[in-house]
Amino acid sequence: MSRSAYSETTCPEPGPGPCGGQGSWRVLIVDDETDVHDATRLALRGLAIEGGSLELLHAYSAREAHEILVAQRDVAVILLDVVMECEDAGLRLVGVIRNELENGAVRIILRTSQPDLVPQIDTIRGYDINDYMTKSELTRIGLFTSLSVAIRSYRQIRELEAAKRGLEEQEQELIRSRGKLRALTAHRERVREEERTHIARELHDEMGQYLTALRMEASMLAMLLPEPDGQIAQHLSTMRELIDHAIGETRRVISRLRPVALDLGLISAAEWLAGDFAARTGIPCDLEAPPEEALELDTEVATTLFRILQESLTNVSRHARARRVDIRIRQNGDMLALEVSDDGHGFDPAEVREKKTFGLMGIRERVLLYGGSVRIDSQVGAGTRLRISLPLSALEGTS
Ligand SMILES: Nc1ncnc2c1ncn2[C@@H]1O[C@H](COP(=O)(O)OP(=O)(O)OP(=O)(O)O)[C@@H](O)[C@H]1O
Ligand SMILES: [Mg+2]
Repeated sequence: MSRSAYSETTCPEPGPGPCGGQGSWRVLIVDDETDVHDATRLALRGLAIEGGSLELLHAYSAREAHEILVAQRDVAVILLDVVMECEDAGLRLVGVIRNELENGAVRIILRTSQPDLVPQIDTIRGYDINDYMTKSELTRIGLFTSLSVAIRSYRQIRELEAAKRGLEEQEQELIRSRGKLRALTAHRERVREEERTHIARELHDEMGQYLTALRMEASMLAMLLPEPDGQIAQHLSTMRELIDHAIGETRRVISRLRPVALDLGLISAAEWLAGDFAARTGIPCDLEAPPEEALELDTEVATTLFRILQESLTNVSRHARARRVDIRIRQNGDMLALEVSDDGHGFDPAEVREKKTFGLMGIRERVLLYGGSVRIDSQVGAGTRLRISLPLSALEGTS
């Protein structure tokens, strides 16, 4: 029969409390002298420490101790003899426990009957050894004091480990839910774009046709009037003006929903947007960009960049009171850079971070989705500059 006696119940992931049978702390006695085991058992009989009784496990060599520690991750303290199979068998075992078994929680109390074999301070520090006792100190009070300190610190280590595990799980959950949120945003964007395209087409095909037909009918009516300068003719003329206005407005709405230029590429769409912005606001808007053929972007990416540009220009017109705006689109090697700067009165980024607005947040989310980065430089009175970089190689496999 093997002389090592240990319980089969194990804690898969040891918690901070006592874990042995019926809430006891497991203490492993490792010594090649049977007398030491007996004396220790006697000295510790009936003791309770930190809310738990003591469950003693016995090993008579470093090898046996190793087997027990492989099977049981919840041993709280080891009372370890230094000299067994060889002069430093105990110290070697400590190395295995800390490095191979990666058990940094178990507390280790070294015991030796040869005080001249005291381990070096570096060894004690490096292997995180809790205490060192000579076997002559094997008294009940001596063991109780030493074990109390060791078990308390074992419990604290386990508590820290459990808290760390909890934090890591929460962090993973956060990363997962952020990923999901980003995927949801991307999906919503795609659906919105499809809807916009659909509405733009409906407006063009249905409303556009009816308005054009109405305009032609009104013109025919004007030609058939017996009195071309009479009152009816005046009303008809106003009616034609109103129809022209409605046609113009419908075209503008269609363009803003989804500019036809976007089908030609990002640069064409940006040119249209810059022109439309300047015409609507009276603020000169300069665009510096490579020729359309030099940039090969798929429609989804081009649309995303177009929406970012659109939001940036909307912000300029709503908030900046700028006198001019500059848009730059550049390709530097693998990076596509988009920059929008204005000379308006800027803002305090710290203040804006507190606002519950979605424009800048939407820009950030869109860019992060494609693995890019956003930088917004703004200062009160010193204009605003928004810079976006997207790695083109990452964009190739996006849609
Ligand atoms: N070019 C700019 N010049 C000055 N202030 C700006 C500029 N761009 C943004 N801001 C400031 O940053 C704030 C946040 O912008 P953001 O686009 O997120 O929100 P918003 O335009 O107010 O609302 P929305 O959610 O409809 O876009 C703005 O309210 C404004 O104070
Ligand atoms: Mg905005």
